[in-house]
Amino acid sequence: MLITDSLLFDLTIAVGTLLVAGFFYIKHKYGYWTRRGVTQLSPVFPFGNYGVALPKGFSLGARTNRFYNAFKKSGNKLGGVYIGLDPYIVIVDPLYAKEILTRDFQYFVDRGIYFNKKNLVTLNIFTQKGDDWRNARAKLTSMFTSSKMKFYFNTVKQCSGDLKANLITLEKSNADVDIYEVMGCYFTDIIGSVTFGIEANSFKREDAIFRKVARDLFQSLPITFQMILFVIVCYPKVANFLDMPIIQPHIEKFFFDFVPETLEHRIKNNIYREDFLQLMIELKKSGEFDTEEIVAQCFNFFVAGFETSSTTSTFLLYELSVNKDIQDRVREEINSVLKKHDGDFTYEAIQEMTYLSQVMAETMRKYPPLTALTRVCVKDYKFPDSEVFIEKGTTAILPVLGYHYDPEVFPDPEKFNPDRFEDKNVKYDGYLPFGYGPRNCIGERLGVMQVKLGVAEVIRNYKLSVSPKMDQQLEFDEYIFVTRMKQKILLKLDKILN
Ligand code: HEM
Repeated sequence: MLITDSLLFDLTIAVGTLLVAGFFYIKHKYGYWTRRGVTQLSPVFPFGNYGVALPKGFSLGARTNRFYNAFKKSGNKLGGVYIGLDPYIVIVDPLYAKEILTRDFQYFVDRGIYFNKKNLVTLNIFTQKGDDWRNARAKLTSMFTSSKMKFYFNTVKQCSGDLKANLITLEKSNADVDIYEVMGCYFTDIIGSVTFGIEANSFKREDAIFRKVARDLFQSLPITFQMILFVIVCYPKVANFLDMPIIQPHIEKFFFDFVPETLEHRIKNNIYREDFLQLMIELKKSGEFDTEEIVAQCFNFFVAGFETSSTTSTFLLYELSVNKDIQDRVREEINSVLKKHDGDFTYEAIQEMTYLSQVMAETMRKYPPLTALTRVCVKDYKFPDSEVFIEKGTTAILPVLGYHYDPEVFPDPEKFNPDRFEDKNVKYDGYLPFGYGPRNCIGERLGVMQVKLGVAEVIRNYKLSVSPKMDQQLEFDEYIFVTRMKQKILLKLDKILN
């Protein structure tokens, strides 16, 4: 219906009205925290506080660290931000983080990570919600018992043999070593074996398929995919409506071909192995998991198992290359423990390397593989000793990188100082490399074991230094979700003659 005689004028009025309505709608949305009495950062449409422009990158750690520093500076224990149009609460006080992760976990069960039916592999224990998550976690926990750990240790040890052989080849070529690539192959082999009982052969074959998939998963992404990710992060409902995938299609296809085939082969030929897939076979036989769910859970173990450990060991070896005194001390400990164990890396020997544990703990403080944790509030919640209420559906951001670099908790935070973790009784508020509470990292013990064994194998045999080709000033890559540096970590390895 026309308002005036002129179509052009009518259109102008309609567009103008829409713009004004849109303006007030956005203004209202961006006033949510102020109305609730929570200090907020000024958002800019359409990304809210998540970055005003694409070229700034989307790394969760870098963004949430900025939130943390801004609120901490203004003396707030909680702060309000917006991602897209949605309100998020930033947990500045690590004691609140602890309440959320443990005592008040029933209010914060979900992680609120995007998944989509276009990528069924993404519907796994990491993204599952409420009772679906509870059921999955209860079933999968039995994969990580102490007796299973000892079994996995043998697998890990076999893979460390291949790591050792590869280091010998590299050392002979006298070239700089891209240590992330080397450790990436080692952990891909381990997770291939522990999850599926297969030999991934990442060191032996240039075209090893698991290594290729692993590389593709965590590469710095092309600009088109980054834009998709921006929509997913800022407007997940739109992304879900448009069926936007978060995993590249060839990776999804690989898992949907490989896992069911392996599963069928194992069931048909009655093959028994002590790996994750065996438990999945049992869950399938008892009707508790269907094939799709098994594919998704295996995919998650694959992703969670190798990337976190690869980055941790890479940064650990880098820090030891820079800090020679710490490197020497680690080597002395390895040698003295091995002496007691006839020169053999046994399960017990690895447990006894306590200084190495401190070094790993300090590495994960400086470079936490997950730089922020999230929890979605599943029922209205009031923060203890505070007037702040949050509504069901609000996501809480726990800025781990911010906590780990807070000079009040970790004096001189840029300094690599494993002595911070010398006293086991000292617990730091906000130190969360594996998360905390009922939804913490299920694979923590496996992660610690495989990293310690891998780096011990390197340190025992080689003196490490940073390649002169490397820029000493490390900078986080903001174009990738996980913790990664802009430049390759290149090390020089000098064989120790025993
Ligand atoms: C150094 C190695 C590792 C680090 C630093 C690490 C870190 C983390 C972190 C921070 C979380 C989130 C915890 C939270 O939200 O409270 C997590 C979750 C998880 N991790 Fe790890 N992880 C490592 C190794 C592994 C390994 C080896 C596996 C399995 C093979 C694994 C499997 C998982 C799974 C399944 C979850 C989701 C748990 C759930 O939602 O119930 N992780 N990990």
